[in-house]
Amino acid sequence: MSDLAIVVLAAGKGTRMKSELPKVLHRAAGRSLLAHVLHAAKDLAPSRAVVVAGPGMDNVAAEATSIFPQAVCAVQNERLGTGHAVSMAREHLSGFNGTVLILYGDVPLITAESLRGLTALVTTQHPLAVLGFEAADPHGYGRLIRNALGDVVAIREQLDATLEERQITLCNSGIIAISAGLLWNLLPKIKNSNAKGEYYLTDLVELGAIAGSACGLAICPESEVAGVNDRVQLAGIEATLQTAYRRKHLLNGATLTAPDTVFFSADTVIGRDVVIEPSVVFGPGVSVADNVEILAFSHLEGTQIGQGARIGPFARLRPGAQIGDAAHIGNFVEVKKAVIGHGAKANHLTYIGDARVGPRTNIGAGTITCNYDGYEKHLTDIGENVFVGSNTALVAPVKIGDGASIAAGSVITRDIPADALAMTRPGLDVRPGWAARNREIKAARKAAKRKS
Ligand code: UD1
Ligand code: MG
Repeated sequence: MSDLAIVVLAAGKGTRMKSELPKVLHRAAGRSLLAHVLHAAKDLAPSRAVVVAGPGMDNVAAEATSIFPQAVCAVQNERLGTGHAVSMAREHLSGFNGTVLILYGDVPLITAESLRGLTALVTTQHPLAVLGFEAADPHGYGRLIRNALGDVVAIREQLDATLEERQITLCNSGIIAISAGLLWNLLPKIKNSNAKGEYYLTDLVELGAIAGSACGLAICPESEVAGVNDRVQLAGIEATLQTAYRRKHLLNGATLTAPDTVFFSADTVIGRDVVIEPSVVFGPGVSVADNVEILAFSHLEGTQIGQGARIGPFARLRPGAQIGDAAHIGNFVEVKKAVIGHGAKANHLTYIGDARVGPRTNIGAGTITCNYDGYEKHLTDIGENVFVGSNTALVAPVKIGDGASIAAGSVITRDIPADALAMTRPGLDVRPGWAARNREIKAARKAAKRKS
């Protein structure tokens, strides 16, 4: 296949989203709409990527380069139509002679497979190709007009279509692949003499046909070209993705006891024989090895979990949590930016942040790594086979040597050597009989008050 460049149109303000955030940066399944499109396109290994954004959308450029380091952003100051938007990419593609694939940033369900089918149609016989679909309700879409031979010879927008043309259900997805030479040759010829007064990219097809360039046609399912204009549609995309991801993980060998209550991110990786109980949420960046159990109501993001570990119920694993093989992270335990060694346990009510916990170490209930001094974060480094008693505060930076024991209720402010016992504890004062006497005195006082 020839060299590929992608151009993603994303200059739309997305007024109906009612948001400060550009539409294409809204997220579904833990990934922006733009990122969904770029990931699908990335599968085709394009050598160049241009995102056409509106003025002031610097965050769109940042999102694009986080996925494609070589991506550049072209700014369309005035929204004069899809043809005008593509012309903004021209200077960024100077010297490029391969195939240009034009995508929409707000059509996130498009698959790499459909894009591959479309770009494969671009040959010297067909220097351009469109991706069409059969619409259940074609209203609002551009219709694909074909000649007697079945070749696509024009695309007619809804407002410009005759009544007869409006009967056509084969519609334009908007996604087009075209040789760079033909694109830059035809684009300046597009006029805005149409119902909307816009420069329509879709006019390329008719201009091409007139110049003798036949247009190829690839077909994809309508579900792949669902666009997002408001948050109802965004929620619909989220639901579609979740249904697909649940099915994928089930088929890959994970047990989901209540699939409809589990939420995945697009990049979630789940091993085999993993059991996921109800109401578990996977934010971005989670990978789970084989034979892990994730119990109900756990929330995970930016986390790696080793084989045979047990998480939850009610566990919270935040970015940078690396849970070792066979480790246990129990209820109401929060772990952030911490490496938990294999076989280590933190079973109840604990915060472990900016820390290392060595293999087979036991962290007692209520243990807190005091990682923040109000200004900076500090490290807590706990060795292997350490026993940390319940309700211990580890004031970072602090280091606990291998095999040490920390007595319950301690506040540890200095490094503890290996195999030592450390304890901070006020003396215990026991007064025999005090409580019984106190009860009698208080009861007598109450009775006297009632009489008077
Ligand atoms: C477009 C197609 C139509 C197709 C439909 C599929 C044209 C003329 N029409 O219509 O054939 O059936 O998509 O959904 O192309 N954009 C810019 N700058 C602009 C205009 C648009 O970046 O000046 C971007 C939008 O943000 C959006 C995409 O291009 O991502 C499509 O624009 P939109 O206005 O939705 O086009 P439609 O009228 O829906
Ligand atoms: Mg549209």
